[in-house]
Amino acid sequence: MSVDALFQPFKIKNLTLPNRIVMAPMTRSFSPNGIPTSDVAGYYRRRAEGGVGLIVTEGTVIERPAARNDVNVPVFHGEALPQWKSVVDEVHAAGGLIAPQIWHVGSARGQGADWTPLGKVDSPSGFTLPGKAKYEPMTEEDVADTIAAFGKSARAARDVGFDAVEIHGAHGYLIDQFFWGGLNAREDRWGGPTIADRTRFGVEVVKAIREGVGDDLPVILRLSQWKQQDYAARIAETPDQLVEWLAPLSDAGVDVFHCSQRRFWEPEFEGSDLNFAGWTKKLIGKPTITVGSVGLDGEFIAAFGGEGSRPASLDGLIRRLENEEFDLVAVGRALLADPQWVNKIRDGRTSELQNFEREALATLS
Ligand SMILES: Cc1cc2nc3c(=O)[nH]c(=O)nc-3n(C[C@H](O)[C@H](O)[C@H](O)COP(=O)(O)O)c2cc1C
Repeated sequence: MSVDALFQPFKIKNLTLPNRIVMAPMTRSFSPNGIPTSDVAGYYRRRAEGGVGLIVTEGTVIERPAARNDVNVPVFHGEALPQWKSVVDEVHAAGGLIAPQIWHVGSARGQGADWTPLGKVDSPSGFTLPGKAKYEPMTEEDVADTIAAFGKSARAARDVGFDAVEIHGAHGYLIDQFFWGGLNAREDRWGGPTIADRTRFGVEVVKAIREGVGDDLPVILRLSQWKQQDYAARIAETPDQLVEWLAPLSDAGVDVFHCSQRRFWEPEFEGSDLNFAGWTKKLIGKPTITVGSVGLDGEFIAAFGGEGSRPASLDGLIRRLENEEFDLVAVGRALLADPQWVNKIRDGRTSELQNFEREALATLS
């Protein structure tokens, strides 16, 4: 099957991506004390050289005491910014485009049994799991300061020269903790029984990010129904609820919705084959990115348990892209395993595609 659909340019605001392939954000924990090194810059440069249309960096955190849950996750403020500029410069020199994924982990725990938070934990209700309170809920001041810190990081992204910004609103981290009724039991304006109530924090973050980057830089928002705390959790059970959730975020200034699934082919609601990105594009009318097991025969949560995956056909994906179900396709592990994955797909060098093995998680090759 022709791969031409993947190699059409795509315009978002003033930014033209050369093709439809986005590198998915992947935490690597190779930034000692939060500062990205020249190895990190080289790792992203190799993906730019390999033909990726838009690189989204690993999650990098805003300036809040406990925004990260691992000391080697990169920060996005202070001393780290000149290092991020080197990353951007190397990617641009290789002809690539790059967006940081702006992150705050909220109450999501770090690796290892002995993990202790790096400061006062921010979360809507202090829950780590539904009904399991462990921390104090955020005060009104914490909420205001956190929204302001998101805005500041967006300004920094623009100043450093990034081409777009992605907000991490998925996978059960801080912004998603506000969306999810399981972790948001607040009774003030940041919570409430309806999805529209719980969307308000995300809306204010989007507005702050938009103000920080200005009108021209594209703002991408990553969302998921599933949570790392509960793979079966859902924010929206129906298309109407999806609109209740996403329309205010769209109005607040999101340009592209990045709809995270573990397997892109799974339908989001009964009665249609459309996936999460497909429904979002149809109902909200903004461009969308799909993701989840593209080009591989196993999914990524299993990869953390050590499972490898083999190359898989792209035909089903390309058929959906040709039908304009979504606009862009994010690829994670296939690009960890092989920086040249995009060029190989473009050139039909399928016999050169590599397996994804757990060893790829341990290096910045
Ligand atoms: C090592 C690793 C780290 C990840 N870190 C992040 C992250 O920082 N932010 C995020 O939104 N998703 C993260 N993800 C999820 C990926 O962006 C992607 O959605 C997932 O791997 C599915 O895509 P794939 O099947 O192509 O790998 C991570 C995935 C992997 C494998």
